[in-house]
Amino acid sequence: MQPRGESLSPSPASRVNELSAEERAVYAALKPERLPQHVAIIMDGNGRWAGRRSLKRFVGHQQGAKAVQLVTETASRINLPWLTLYAFSLENNLRRPRAEVNFLMRLLKTYLDSNLERMRKNNVRMRYIGRTHDLPPEVQDKMRWAEEATARNTGTTLTLALNYGGRSELVDAFRGLAAEMKNKHLSLDHITEEDVHRHLYTAQMPDPDLLIRTSGEQRISNFLLWQIAYTEIFVTDRYWPDFRGVHLLEAIADFQRRERRYGGIGEDSGEVEEDFESIKIAAS
Ligand code: FPP
Repeated sequence: MQPRGESLSPSPASRVNELSAEERAVYAALKPERLPQHVAIIMDGNGRWAGRRSLKRFVGHQQGAKAVQLVTETASRINLPWLTLYAFSLENNLRRPRAEVNFLMRLLKTYLDSNLERMRKNNVRMRYIGRTHDLPPEVQDKMRWAEEATARNTGTTLTLALNYGGRSELVDAFRGLAAEMKNKHLSLDHITEEDVHRHLYTAQMPDPDLLIRTSGEQRISNFLLWQIAYTEIFVTDRYWPDFRGVHLLEAIADFQRRERRYGGIGEDSGEVEEDFESIKIAAS
């Protein structure tokens, strides 16, 4: 299955020269023709990062917000079209203490306020996925403001998953699709994967090529369940507040060493059709 999505605007002048020396060294070994179009990240480990330093959890979230900006800037310098970050799950909203949830909401507002100018300079466009209509109204206002202010930017699209859950996204998609089928008097037998895709929050984007998870947990945690069917997964032990652009580039280097087969077989498997045809299968 090939990724689908909006056609990309013409690449602006390369900003690779803005990478740090450390980043440039990793970038130099990458194959430009095999750069991913869409990288998604499960940002995990803010609390543990803080705990290791005998700091309060909120300090970990503050450092995590800084990492968001730095990683986004590296993504924009290599002209990555789509970067999607799991910033706040439905489960975070339901299961974390109210004080922490309120702090994360305030942090998001401050983040959008104080980084908008940097987003503009980096040509970054902001978008959101999730049940954002259930977030506090003042947070939604700030989100809308940042989205509108960056809507004309043509570089990296930074999508923040907020009050997001993969299963609830599918429920929302099925509801939307069911309503469409009913209105258009269409037969359910004709539903296709493309129809489901059209009703996802991510309908305008290609599926992620690479999913990164920080802090070592080997879980998907209800993130982009439909979209990651053929995504390469990269798990690092590094906690999110320590994750930087150079680590994004290292993950991309690892991704480029993988062979993506989409359920097929490798190009150099050496097998030919006759091999299969001439083999007798013994009864078992
Ligand atoms: C996991 O850390 C991360 C989150 C709960 C959300 C991610 C939030 C940020 C990176 C900061 C805010 C982001 C923006 C865009 C302003 P955790 O608390 O689950 O860590 P732990 O598993 O070590 O406890």
